[in-house]
Amino acid sequence: MNYILPSMNDKLRVIIIGASGGIGRAFIELLKNSTQVEVVYALSRNIGHSESKKIINMKIDLSCEKSIQTAAAELITTGSFDLCIIATGLLQNEKINPEKNIKSLKQSSFLKSFTINTIGPALVAKYFIPLLRKDKKSVLAALSARVGSISDNYIGGWYAYRASKAALNMIIKCLAIELLRKSKTQIILGLHPGTVDTNLSKPFQKNVPREKLFSADYSARKLLKVINNATVNESGLFLAWDGSVISF
Ligand SMILES: NC(=O)c1ccc[n+]([C@@H]2O[C@H](COP(=O)([O-])OP(=O)(O)OC[C@H]3O[C@@H](n4cnc5c(N)ncnc54)[C@H](OP(=O)(O)O)[C@@H]3O)[C@@H](O)[C@H]2O)c1
Repeated sequence: MNYILPSMNDKLRVIIIGASGGIGRAFIELLKNSTQVEVVYALSRNIGHSESKKIINMKIDLSCEKSIQTAAAELITTGSFDLCIIATGLLQNEKINPEKNIKSLKQSSFLKSFTINTIGPALVAKYFIPLLRKDKKSVLAALSARVGSISDNYIGGWYAYRASKAALNMIIKCLAIELLRKSKTQIILGLHPGTVDTNLSKPFQKNVPREKLFSADYSARKLLKVINNATVNESGLFLAWDGSVISF
């Protein structure tokens, strides 16, 4: 058997939220090619199309609690899950530009960034943690970003994105503490994927040295290794693609 996550169950049932994103897609590609994986539920706002019978596409909108609840209610009827990765996120769109200075702060940018980067993943945790198996290792991992580390912030800017990811890190820590009281098998992780060549980073890549700009495939492989190595002792931590701990 081609084991992709050897520390976990023999027949993996996985949920990827943000299936249309650069890193989300890379996770799905890697998982689909492993014989250890039984099924991948690929969730996104626009339902994709897949040739593989292992991949089941479903709809979710992180800005709508009802949509998150409905997706979880549908998934629970299929059985329990080993792994759920939240690979959604928002840095910029037609209305939001990462702020360079205090003059550019906008209420609407904060509200949208927190809705997608913080509140969405928190509500996913609310409805999806009950789907995770309890008899063996299971993991809920959310993609955060190193720029959400307060202690690592030396250059400022990107107020809404940084703040929404810092708040996400706090949510992850709270979830881990609460879960540890009830379960020694369910693990919550915050993950930094590195700087990855996706639509999200495209407008900001020009000053990134080539060797520091990862392909989505490379980043996803590294993050799966981090997930595989994680034990309950790492629950609540913010871990980088190479397994190192990032301070909050
Ligand atoms: N790329 C990097 O260099 C980098 C660095 C550090 C951290 N990260 C983090 O890694 C994660 C993945 O980023 P990426 O680079 O793969 O970005 P991406 O290619 O832009 O993907 C973002 C994903 O989020 C989804 N999304 C946005 N709003 C949503 C909503 N309301 N409901 C459901 N899904 C929604 C998008 O879906 P649609 O297709 O429907 O818009 C897309 O699937 C993010 O959390 C990001 O902050 C990335």
